[in-house]
Amino acid sequence: MGLSMPSPLVRGLFAIIIIALVVLVHLKLLRWVTESHTRRRSVTWLLRGLAVLSASWILASVFVRRAPGLDYVPVWLAWIFGLGITWGFCSLLVLGLSVIWRRLPAFNPRRRGFLLASRTALIAAPAAVAGFGVFIGRKDIGLREINLRMAALPKDLDGFRLVQLSDIHLGPFFSRDDLARAVDMANETRAHLAVVTGDLITRRGDPLDTCLKELSRLKADFGIWGCMGNHETYANTEDYTEREGARRGIGFLRQRAHWFSKGSARLNLAGVDYQSVRRPYLENAESLVAPDSFNILLSHNPDVLPMAARKGFDLTIAGHTHGGQINVEILAQNISLARFITPYVYGTYRAGESALYVTRGLGTVGVPARLGAPPEVALIRLCAT
Ligand SMILES: [Fe+2]
Repeated sequence: MGLSMPSPLVRGLFAIIIIALVVLVHLKLLRWVTESHTRRRSVTWLLRGLAVLSASWILASVFVRRAPGLDYVPVWLAWIFGLGITWGFCSLLVLGLSVIWRRLPAFNPRRRGFLLASRTALIAAPAAVAGFGVFIGRKDIGLREINLRMAALPKDLDGFRLVQLSDIHLGPFFSRDDLARAVDMANETRAHLAVVTGDLITRRGDPLDTCLKELSRLKADFGIWGCMGNHETYANTEDYTEREGARRGIGFLRQRAHWFSKGSARLNLAGVDYQSVRRPYLENAESLVAPDSFNILLSHNPDVLPMAARKGFDLTIAGHTHGGQINVEILAQNISLARFITPYVYGTYRAGESALYVTRGLGTVGVPARLGAPPEVALIRLCAT
């Protein structure tokens, strides 16, 4: 997930804004907690110390992560980064809840015990929810089956099955064992085609060879194919991934297409590198569309749907959003940061007769947690209408 890498100046400004927010949030929280829970000076000082420590932890995460030349991040340091950011999100949530609390009508002082217990629960809730997201939600891989009705589907492709793995981000927060489980799950589907739609790793120095080795265990009649994600661009590993992938039997389609025949039907599979918002989407991709074929496009970025439809692709398969990764449902509305980036967060979308499937993918970026968006292996079954 994420947009194109911003310039160092923009990243610096972003870091300063985050730091200022973190400091303000912690000062505010400290006041709120010490006001309500105790007047004893020793406890107040202890809480102040904890607030300063946690703010420094987050600051260190923001700064160290951006240190020049830090290609390899050890696992322990990655966890410090990840938990620091998670803690920052929790603090923001607690602050939000405290603002709501203050707006509630005045309570009866005789119910002080109950009020203090409620307030403690309020403070603990975001940490408990984040803990679930970090230690349980992140690992809860499931198989998601999608029946996709396509008007233009040739008869011989009715029932054709594609299994999709995406956004693996192999590294400290998604291990080789996790990926092996996902590959085994994919192989149990006995799909016709296996596709990998980018973000194999997060940054340079992550175990790319291990990832490719595990992915090469995928089994499908028409082989394993893929496209590049934005993190391959950031890590500058596109050429290596293409070369090593080909050596291991994975065909990464980089502005090229490959066709298959099944009975009398022809399936044309095309792939493009990560489509950045800075350039028009799918430039020259019309040359990848084959006439008299069912045309499928692998594009990490789902935003290409309207353009893919205009260029003649019948189906686009994408990832990138992680299904929001942190998804909160409030009053029947799904709220996630991904909604600010794209309207295509998760699931099936249509543009005229063209369709798009966006998977939640497997791994995580930023916060090492998943809430309301469990990792998935997607099995797409093409159906004639
Ligand atoms: Fe990703």
